[in-house]
Amino acid sequence: MSLIVILTGAGVSAESGVDTFRDQGGIWSRYDLREVATPEGFAANPTLVHEFYNDRREQMKAVEPNAAHRALALLEHRYKGEVLTITQNIDDLHERAGTKNLIHMHGELSKVFCIRCSNRLAWDGALSAFDNCPTCGHAGCLRPDVVWFGESPYHMDIIEEALNRASLFLSIGTSGSVYPAAMFVEEAARTGARTVELNLEPSEISELFDERIKGPATKIVPAFVESILAAD
Ligand code: OAD
Repeated sequence: MSLIVILTGAGVSAESGVDTFRDQGGIWSRYDLREVATPEGFAANPTLVHEFYNDRREQMKAVEPNAAHRALALLEHRYKGEVLTITQNIDDLHERAGTKNLIHMHGELSKVFCIRCSNRLAWDGALSAFDNCPTCGHAGCLRPDVVWFGESPYHMDIIEEALNRASLFLSIGTSGSVYPAAMFVEEAARTGARTVELNLEPSEISELFDERIKGPATKIVPAFVESILAAD
């Protein structure tokens, strides 16, 4: 059965109102990523890190999936083969649009992880350095269940296997500046996948793709999905 692997980044959620990282005025122009997105930053100032992710959790609740998220969910449901969506995003917009076969390789804002008992659990409100873990009862041991710089992304075994089997690899709304996600196009191409980048502007790794489609995700993703389904 043919497999489409889709990698998404912040650009797919931009038109829902979620901030991207490296565009002008993006998150990393306002925050020092070493302070808010590394284990060392968390150890030095957990309150700052909690505030950063609490703000982003609130922002996520205020936004809705857009036409690009919905088109990708439709592709998963209608395509005769298999579709796996891998997102670097920690928002929940793909699942709210209806995508089921989804990997959050950089974790999820809607979950926390206990560094004492290793339990993961759903978390809806603000998180602080003083909250008790509902599972082990200890205080001060919960962190956002997100992957920080210097940590390994989640589910890399499943991702590698899928990239080796993919017939089509799509990269949508990502700058291609963070590894290992930036290497996925080469891995998929090595085993024969057609590779397509859909992005507002050429990314840092655009030349690695067979095809590039330029434009806002809410326009180019639905049109591309329609073309795949028409040929299916
Ligand atoms: P970036 O902010 O690096 O890149 C967003 C990309 O989306 C850029 O290439 C934009 O041109 C494009 N873009 C912006 N608006 C768009 C739109 N409306 N339609 C289509 N494309 C659009 O975000 P990511 O590539 O997702 O990791 O960043 C990767 C990782 O770096 C994130 O997961 C996060 C960050 O640091 C961690 O925090 C570990």
